[in-house]
Amino acid sequence: MEKIQSALAKARAERDAKTAGAAAPAGTPQAAPAPVQETAPAPQPKASPAPVPGSIAETWKALPLLKLQPKLMKRNRIVALQGGHEATGIDMMRTRVLQQMRDNGWRRLAITSPTAACGKSTIALNLAMSLQRQADLRTVLVELDLRRPALARMLGVQDNLSFAHVLEGTRPFSENALRYGANLAISTNQRPWRDAAELLGSAHVPEALSDIETSYAPDLMIFDMPPMLVSDDMMAFARHVDCVLLVAGAESTTVKEIDICETDLASQTNVMGVILNKCRYMGPEYGYGYYE
Ligand SMILES: Nc1ncnc2c1ncn2[C@@H]1O[C@H](COP(=O)(O)OP(=O)(O)OP(=O)(O)O)[C@@H](O)[C@H]1O
Ligand SMILES: [Mg+2]
Repeated sequence: MEKIQSALAKARAERDAKTAGAAAPAGTPQAAPAPVQETAPAPQPKASPAPVPGSIAETWKALPLLKLQPKLMKRNRIVALQGGHEATGIDMMRTRVLQQMRDNGWRRLAITSPTAACGKSTIALNLAMSLQRQADLRTVLVELDLRRPALARMLGVQDNLSFAHVLEGTRPFSENALRYGANLAISTNQRPWRDAAELLGSAHVPEALSDIETSYAPDLMIFDMPPMLVSDDMMAFARHVDCVLLVAGAESTTVKEIDICETDLASQTNVMGVILNKCRYMGPEYGYGYYE
């Protein structure tokens, strides 16, 4: 891992020297979800006074509840539903992400990777679950891997939700999102969307996103994106987010791929950092050894 880190640092330094300060700041938060041993049932919303009609609280309360199956969560490595040892890596990442976002006044975070299967959706879901445990924060997680949607399958969602239709402006967010606990909304896609890059770059996107922000006032919006090097979807959407986390697969992603992605992203938005995922061996400072 240290070798990858030092190679990344070297590649960045070389690129920064060439581009004379054009690159965005890039930290290197690292996290690898630990194996799941058990999953708790969904937290019950606490009894609270009836929300004021038309208020943000009422809008949240009106979203249908998402019910999770513990076995499915375990199989899909969703480890951050509850705090504790297994969620430590994700919770550490949450803290660092929140710090950077607050310090910079950022609210929209995209999660991508150079190639497929580096763990973007797993990390996006775990980060969202970890944020959900912070009762004072509202988080919205949306799936923007429109060509190969996976979140509905990972969460066991059967409803015919389509964030693509929300983005297109033909269906409301309120009918295409589910609520987990009191403060996490998740919008998935049941079917692939053919013209994904066109939709992601369309003129209606800013309005669709700001409508959600107006109605739900999320502290954070997380976008689970497709891989960067196989389509132009991420770049078509990049200007709509405040920052991006790049997920690197420890045994699959090359330094060159990360460097290409960082350079492209930095031309449109802020690269918050690189997450090294699927690390087979972790140092004792991260609290666990093998990833499976
Ligand atoms: N830290 C990890 N350790 C071991 N396996 C992992 C880890 N993170 C994710 N995986 C597994 O890797 C596979 C791909 O994960 P995931 O679907 O999250 O990746 P992705 O980057 O979203 O893929 P895609 O590019 O297809 O959207 C899944 O089987 C997932 O369970
Ligand atoms: Mg994915």
